Amino acid sequence: MSNKPLRIAQISDLHIKSPGQLAYGRVDTAKALERCVTALNKFRPAPDFVVISGDLVDTPTIEEYDHLKRLLAPIKLPFAGIPGNHDGREMMRAAFPQAGYAFPAGALNQAIELGELELILLDSHVPGKPHGELEAATLQWLDATLAASASRPALLFLHHPPFIAGIWHMDRQNLHNAGDLAEIVRRHPRVQLVATGHVHRATLTMFAGVACTICPAPNHAVDLDLDQLRAPSFKVEPPAFHLHTWYPGEGFGHVVTHQVPIGTFDGPHPFFGTDGKLL
Ligand SMILES: [Fe+2]
Repeated sequence: MSNKPLRIAQISDLHIKSPGQLAYGRVDTAKALERCVTALNKFRPAPDFVVISGDLVDTPTIEEYDHLKRLLAPIKLPFAGIPGNHDGREMMRAAFPQAGYAFPAGALNQAIELGELELILLDSHVPGKPHGELEAATLQWLDATLAASASRPALLFLHHPPFIAGIWHMDRQNLHNAGDLAEIVRRHPRVQLVATGHVHRATLTMFAGVACTICPAPNHAVDLDLDQLRAPSFKVEPPAFHLHTWYPGEGFGHVVTHQVPIGTFDGPHPFFGTDGKLL
């Protein structure tokens, strides 16, 4: 077994509009993605892979996917996307025809081998609906894919969180058949992380005995309204992405998730002077 850690950057909920259009009349999601791509390209050590966990575009339209592809063109890292509720399966399949989708039509699931890791991308899109659901064929495929190895650590990615995150209007549109997913995750201890999006803010819980995250967005965040105090709202909070690092080790190794803010910040500054004393 190699001693090399593997780094997977996760970006989520890009909501790309047609050129010149703002999301909700207010958020320049294209500029936000440009800044995100710059941050990904500059990050050292370079991530080994990038997963885009849904809502790549906003409406969806073919023009939006064309715009998205132009904005993603400068990425110097391999990447793959999964659909969210704002995506269109057929439009997305047409936009990224090189992707290794598991099915020739329908759900855009993918299993990607990355060194000693397996990344499993699950399509929770329900046509015409904001909530998520894993179709029977996707669940069967997931179970069979996980059963194909007992030793390779696997990270699962899907758009819709399979848990109540406390933000009422988002909880109504989470993964509705989370119990089906939990049953499969429990059967396969090689699953080391369940990473999601949809809520545009960093969130962590345990799901079926595994760490389960929501990735922040490069643009706007869903308002942190934990008691139905306000109508469904968003806020433009500091943008960020997630960096999941898998470290080899005993058993399945372990995964550490860092939140990486996007932007230019003061520093880094050394703690110590050339004399070795604290500055
Ligand atoms: Fe979403």
